[in-house]
Amino acid sequence: MDRIRIVGGAKLNGTIPISGAKNAALPLMIASLLTDRTVTLENLPRLADVSLLVRILSNQGADYSIDGRRQGEGREAGQTVHMTAREIVDTTAPYELVSRMRASFWVIAPLLARCGEARVSLPGGCAIGTRPVDLLLMALEKLGGQIEIEGGYAVAKAPKGLRGAEITFPKVTVGGTHVALMAAALAQGTTVLHNAAREPEVIDLAELLNKMGAKITGAGQSTVEITGVARLNGAKHRVLPDRIEAGTYAMAVAMTGGDVLLEGAQAHDFQAALDVLVQSGAHVESTNEGVRVSRNGGPILPVDVETAPFPAFPTDLQAQFMALMTRANGVSRITETIFENRFMHVQELARFGARIKLDGDSAVVEGVPVLKGAPVMATDLRASASLVIAALAAEGETMIQRVYHLDRGFEALERKLSLCGAEVERISAGG
Ligand code: UD1
Repeated sequence: MDRIRIVGGAKLNGTIPISGAKNAALPLMIASLLTDRTVTLENLPRLADVSLLVRILSNQGADYSIDGRRQGEGREAGQTVHMTAREIVDTTAPYELVSRMRASFWVIAPLLARCGEARVSLPGGCAIGTRPVDLLLMALEKLGGQIEIEGGYAVAKAPKGLRGAEITFPKVTVGGTHVALMAAALAQGTTVLHNAAREPEVIDLAELLNKMGAKITGAGQSTVEITGVARLNGAKHRVLPDRIEAGTYAMAVAMTGGDVLLEGAQAHDFQAALDVLVQSGAHVESTNEGVRVSRNGGPILPVDVETAPFPAFPTDLQAQFMALMTRANGVSRITETIFENRFMHVQELARFGARIKLDGDSAVVEGVPVLKGAPVMATDLRASASLVIAALAAEGETMIQRVYHLDRGFEALERKLSLCGAEVERISAGG
């Protein structure tokens, strides 16, 4: 298994191109199952999760092709992928594939809406919490799907098609909102979602669906209205920039000091995180080219943070922010309200000499003046990013094991950081 070696201490200076968002790419790719025409997605990131989803969707019958590099296109340019599910040949998504990536469970929506049946493995346990799918199934049942759990699979049927309904989510769920949007797009009549997720990735999915001929209004607000259509067409869509990747590098710069342009990032997609960075002493500027983050000289100030659905501070940046707070000039409290078990990075951050105490759903972080490099292990995607941030500021060498977690969600991490002056290298399993 590959490892990443980081020698801390260098400030970050330069430009980091921000890739297309993983969390948008996945539902956009899944939406291609809704039509027999070609859906073209530009700016798709090169990530392990994207490749795995391509495999899952091709199992369902989707053909795909990837454009080669174009004249003048840099190595960081996203890929253009054409997906065509002319015919759905298999409405089953098996355990071996779904258990490797939770989001692939969402194929249940287009399969049920288009074919009237779907058999999709329940995703199973996950390191950051129980992460049930009850609300996704509730939404499909409201739309007329009949769902049974058999042998670890959700077996859904709608022989006469789905029909529009009022769906009220008792809790904000990104996956539940994606599933409801896709299913309702092909249902008969009108669907209204209440307490829908407002994340930028939800807006991105709704935009693609509307280009395909869906009738969705209000995406990005709590109430979304979808008027079903009989069929959807092909479309072309550019994946929005990854706000979590951008936020991660923003925190890295706040940690090491320096001055970096996050090229292509959109401040309004992660404003809550940027506001917190400003409170912690960083300077943030939104420009035509992206978001520029710098910290020169001054101390890192402690800031209390609570994660919550968009537009509040995202849970996917909680671990990275905690890494920053380990070097703050005082005590901060970080409260996680979305996932009950998302503190695995605490143990690993302690290996750098960080002082963190867990207190129910909060972590109390007492900043220390110096972190020291250590061998550490990546436990989940975003937790791994927090280890990178700590390592960049730590004295001496850090070796991060199990970097396949990072490869799921961060494209070319070591190249992007090295270009800004960090001492980072990947040590391949063979070498
Ligand atoms: C998505 C993101 C993930 C992010 C999360 C919250 C993708 C691929 N993943 O995950 O990176 O951390 O949003 O912003 O986009 N819940 C239920 N029942 C359900 C569904 C969810 O109780 O049926 C709960 C979850 O356990 C969690 C909360 O609702 O406590 C939010 O989860 P949700 O927004 O659904 O997360 P995902 O869509 O899985």
